[in-house]
Amino acid sequence: MDDTKTPTGLHEVTVVTNEPVADGLMRVVLSAPDLAFRLAPGQFLNVYVPGDASQILRIPLSFSRADASTGKIEIVYAVVGDGTRRLSEMPRGSVTTVVAPCGNPWRTSAGQGRSVVVAGGVGITPIVACAGLLAEREIAFDAVVGAQTAGRLWGVDALSGLGAGTVAVTTDDGSAGRAGFTTDALAELLAAGGYAQVYACGPEVMMAGVARICREAGVACQVSMERMMCCGFGACGTCNVAMADGTYQSCCKDGPVFDAEEVAW
Ligand SMILES: Cc1cc2nc3c(=O)[nH]c(=O)nc-3n(C[C@H](O)[C@H](O)[C@H](O)COP(=O)(O)OP(=O)(O)OC[C@H]3O[C@@H](n4cnc5c(N)ncnc54)[C@H](O)[C@@H]3O)c2cc1C
Ligand code: FES
Repeated sequence: MDDTKTPTGLHEVTVVTNEPVADGLMRVVLSAPDLAFRLAPGQFLNVYVPGDASQILRIPLSFSRADASTGKIEIVYAVVGDGTRRLSEMPRGSVTTVVAPCGNPWRTSAGQGRSVVVAGGVGITPIVACAGLLAEREIAFDAVVGAQTAGRLWGVDALSGLGAGTVAVTTDDGSAGRAGFTTDALAELLAAGGYAQVYACGPEVMMAGVARICREAGVACQVSMERMMCCGFGACGTCNVAMADGTYQSCCKDGPVFDAEEVAW
């Protein structure tokens, strides 16, 4: 863990907009002037969604943009259960709290060569943040974005707008881009050579595939992992990730970004 990073704390946030952007996907913009400038791409927020007394757990969510100048934070999220459904019903002006910044950010290195960002499904959220980081550091990158079907795609325009060279789109059913998986498109890109680093977020099976392809191609890879989380700051032990060396690390505090080589897939 980086001891120089901003400490995790409780922050009040206000919903600015909360609207659908694709089938089952919502985009919420939060106003949080005392927080937006503290967030580093790849970190996440643990969001409280007001409910009844049984609904006390916060929801861990990555962000796609955090704008220090406007104090706004954008999160794209899938509505999958009770918490995210209640979040989707929070109107403009609703006030709640988040615990943030949580976890460790994506890493870049000085003079880093061309990179690839790979997003599967709602894994696109931290990947857009990663693309923003690469653009800011003037690191050239290409992108691979996959979804089950065209109606669930989001983020292609955002990645193009951030300066991605190629944006390869895949859908499981072939309704947009090429039919197939993100791993197929990534393997083709890496086969062309010239890449230094891959960043990936998506279903675990996808990230395992990305890790294997990167290992075979000799390209470094970082992944953003997901686990069920209770506290979000290393206190409860619910979010263990098994490491290749036989140890366990906490997804919330040691991750969510890990070197793919460190993870026991
Ligand atoms: C670090 C981190 C960042 C995340 N970023 C995003 C994001 O940017 N956008 C987004 O849509 N989702 C993100 N998630 C997943 C999100 O936290 C879960 O979808 C959410 O907690 C589900 O809450 P719920 O009450 O709606 O669903 P529940 O009713 O609790 O569960 C519904 C389904 O989602 C699964 N689920 C619940 N919690 C998690 C979890 N933490 N991780 C994986 N699956 C879960 C359950 O197993 C179940 O199948 C992130 C998770 C983590 C750990
Ligand atoms: S969620 Fe509590 S230790 Fe990670």
